[in-house]
Amino acid sequence: MAAKSNSDDTDSQFYLTADTFFPRHANTGLTFDDVTLATQFSQILPRETVLDTRLAENLELHLPIISADMDTVTEHAMAIAMALKGGLGLVHYNMTEKQQLKEVSRVKNHVHGLIQEPITVTADLSVSDVLELIEEQRYTFSTFPVVDKAGNLTGLLSGSVVKPRYADRRVGDAAIPRTSVHAVTEKELEPDPIRVADQFFTDHPGINKLLVVDDADHLKGLFTLSDVERIALEKSAQFKPARDAEFRLLCGAAVSATRTQGGELDRERITTHVGALLERGVDAVAVSTAHGHTQGVGDTVKLIRDAFPALPIIAGNVTSAAGVEYLADCGANSIKVGQGPGSICTTRIVAGVGIPQLTALYVAAKGAAAKGVTIIADGGVTKSGDIVKALTLSNAVICGGLLAGCQESPGDIVEISGKRYKQYRGMGSLAAMKAGSAARYGHSAKDDTRKIAAEGVEALKEVSGSVDSVLTQLTGGIQSGLGYLGASNLAELHDKARYLRISAASQHESKPHDVIEVKAGN
Ligand code: XMP
Repeated sequence: MAAKSNSDDTDSQFYLTADTFFPRHANTGLTFDDVTLATQFSQILPRETVLDTRLAENLELHLPIISADMDTVTEHAMAIAMALKGGLGLVHYNMTEKQQLKEVSRVKNHVHGLIQEPITVTADLSVSDVLELIEEQRYTFSTFPVVDKAGNLTGLLSGSVVKPRYADRRVGDAAIPRTSVHAVTEKELEPDPIRVADQFFTDHPGINKLLVVDDADHLKGLFTLSDVERIALEKSAQFKPARDAEFRLLCGAAVSATRTQGGELDRERITTHVGALLERGVDAVAVSTAHGHTQGVGDTVKLIRDAFPALPIIAGNVTSAAGVEYLADCGANSIKVGQGPGSICTTRIVAGVGIPQLTALYVAAKGAAAKGVTIIADGGVTKSGDIVKALTLSNAVICGGLLAGCQESPGDIVEISGKRYKQYRGMGSLAAMKAGSAARYGHSAKDDTRKIAAEGVEALKEVSGSVDSVLTQLTGGIQSGLGYLGASNLAELHDKARYLRISAASQHESKPHDVIEVKAGN
C-alpha cells in the first residue's frame, strides 16, 4: 500500500467526509447550493458508470430518478416514459380510486413501440379537414387509420395523399381500403410484440406502418417502422427500461391515509384499494403526506405491510432520523425525505417548519443506516448537480418541477407572449387540495367551515420537450459527477463524497458569470 502523503492530509483537512462535515455544521441547515463536492483521482469514464439502485428487496431501478406523485406531474404517460428510461413514476392520487387503477393498468399493459390509442379519422371527412386537424393539433405525422363509428378499421389514409392538392377528396375515397391494409391481431403479436413488428417490416420493404386489431377488427394500435428501429437500437443502450419479472414496465402509485367521516383510518377502503392496485401489477405504493412521522401515516404503513407482506412501501415525508426509524419500524422499505424544499412549496413560510435538504438527507441517512432501509431525496432538485449531491446521501431522488414542463405531464399547454407553458401546482395548493389531496396536509377538502391553509402555490413551467430528452441531460450530468469522484456506481459515490461549504461569492462563481449568455448550457 502506498504511504500516506502530505497532500492527502491537506485534502482531508479541507474536503471532509459526510460524517465529519455535517456534524461540524450541526447548527446550520444546508442545502444543495451551500455545498460543493471535491473531485477525486479517477480511472472511471462517465459513460462507464452504472446508476442502478435498489430501493427495496424487490424494487430495483436502473436510473435513480422518480417522478413526483403530483397531479401536474405523474399519470400514465409520465410513468411510462420514466420506466422506459430506467426510472419510476408514482401515479398521483388526486383522482378516483377507479381512475388510478386504470392509470396503473395503462402503464403495466404498455407495449413498447405500440401506439395504443392512435389518432384516427373517419371516412366522411375531407382531406382538407384532416389538414386542418394537423395544423390545429400540431401533429408531426400525416398518416391516419380510418375507422367507423364502432371503432372498426376501414382503411388507412396515407400521408402521401394528405396534401392540399387532394383537399376536396373524401377520406373514404382517398384512403387505402381495409382489404389492402397490413394489420395483425393482438394474439399474433404474442409473446414478443416488438420482434413480430420488426420481422414484419423486414418482410415488407417500403411499408412503414403496421396496424393492430382485435378478433372483431377493432383498431387496437399502430406500430411505426421508425419507433421499432429506435427500440432495436435501445437494446444496446446503457440504461435499460425498469421492468418487472414479466417484462412489464414498473409503476408506482401514491395512496392516501384515507379517513372515515368519523376521523378513523378507513382500513377497509385502504386495503381494498391497495389490493386492487396489486392485482393490476403495481410495483410499489407510496404513502404520501407532508408529515410522515405521525400516528396516521405509521398506522397506514402497518396496515398495508400486514396485508401485503411483499409489497414495496415508500412512505414519508420526514426530515429526522427518528422519523425514518419510525416508518421503517412500521414496515416501510424506502422513506421520502423532504419538508419544504419543493419548488412550489410554501410549508416553511406558512407553517415555519422544514429542514434544508442536504442536512435533512444526512440526518435521515443515519436513521436509514440504523434500520437497513433506503431513503429518497424528495424536492428542491433544479439541476443534475443537485442530484449528484443528493445521491451521495440517498438512494434516489424525486423530481416534480424538473419534469412538469414535459409533454408527458398531465395538463394543457398555454401560450403567453409567444412562450409555451404547462401548469405546475403544489399538492398543498388550494386548487389541488380541493381536487382531493387535502388529507396529505392534514385537512379535509369538504371542510368549508374553516379556512384551509394552503402550503403550495399554483405555477407555470416552461415547456421542456420530452421526458426522454430531459432525463438524457440529467443522466449525463449524474454520470459526469460520478466520473469526477472516481465512482463507478452509487455505492462508491456514497464512499467517495467529500464536502466543502461554500460562500455566497463562491455560489456566484459556480454559475456562468460576467458574460452575456447567448445559449443556455442545457
Ligand atoms: P420539486 O422541487 O421537484 O418538488 O418541484 C416536488 C416535491 O414537492 C413536494 N410537494 C409539496 N410540498 N407543498 C409542499 O410543501 C406543496 O403544495 C407540495 N406539493 C408537492 C412533494 O414532496 C414533491 O415530490
